[in-house]
Amino acid sequence: MMTTTVTNQDEVDSLAERLATESQGYAGHLTEREGAFLAVLAAHGPGEGVVLEIGSFKGRSTIILARVEQETKGRSNVVAVDPLTSPSVTDPSLDGAASCRDVFFGNLERAGVRESIEFHECTAHKLSLDWVRSIRLLWIDGDHTYDGVTSDFVDFSPHLAPGGIIAFHDVMHCAGVTRVFAERVLRSGSFGVAGVVGSIGWAQLRVRGSVDAHARDRFRLADRLEHHAAVVESGDSRRKKAFAKLLRWRVPHDAMTAQEFVSKIDPGIPVQFAGGVASGSRTRS
Ligand SMILES: C[S@@+](CC[C@H](N)C(=O)[O-])C[C@H]1O[C@@H](n2cnc3c(N)ncnc32)[C@H](O)[C@@H]1O
Repeated sequence: MMTTTVTNQDEVDSLAERLATESQGYAGHLTEREGAFLAVLAAHGPGEGVVLEIGSFKGRSTIILARVEQETKGRSNVVAVDPLTSPSVTDPSLDGAASCRDVFFGNLERAGVRESIEFHECTAHKLSLDWVRSIRLLWIDGDHTYDGVTSDFVDFSPHLAPGGIIAFHDVMHCAGVTRVFAERVLRSGSFGVAGVVGSIGWAQLRVRGSVDAHARDRFRLADRLEHHAAVVESGDSRRKKAFAKLLRWRVPHDAMTAQEFVSKIDPGIPVQFAGGVASGSRTRS
């Protein structure tokens, strides 16, 4: 395992690309573009607290999060939760196995992060019952049904640190995720800047007292995503296919570099890297 101390945005981008490429060696559905963006979120997401992953499966995103923490902060502060049994109808198949525990822990071992993760083998709701810690990055990739995503949002979003980031996987593919992201995040004045990269929908919790300068953009994005969800739910496969194509240009979801991300988020909160405050991290482009 290669470990370095990363202190600036260019280094974050090359770290993100490296981890995203490596992550494709572990089973999962996160694409390289999404993996690189998740790494940028973990490196530059502001706020105090832990990184919480809901839904680990065989560890693809877990490993990215832990490695970024190790290489930018010098220590991992990642908590992950998953019963590892794929209980939801939206979960990936375990191909007849009762659990993916052995593969998950084997992958963490192989990536050198087994000791760096605080892992809870249970549902997110069970973990939430005693949860009191502040969360700086809330990564939701568990039960993708509307009720499942709502439950994750309701249980954990109250713990998001001011300026912290919430991110959902599969906003472009699963209507349940799309709707919760649109209704609870994009249409809420509690959140500020937001967007989509690949199929990751993300937003920054506003710092109390800050001006909501992004409401119009968030509402436009919500309108488009909700329209998409309605088509996906309609069950008409010809319309679905046609709309999915249309959506590709109606919802911007291109890759985003560390510098682009940093230029968009609220600059009020400094990001602490192991080598000091991220150099140039708050210069707006
Ligand atoms: C799409 S997979 C996660 C993919 C993973 N993030 C990756 O990068 O490969 C969804 C996971 O959510 C888990 N899951 C389902 N219901 C859950 C719940 N209520 N709480 C926590 N995890 C849940 C499943 O066991 C499954 O492993």
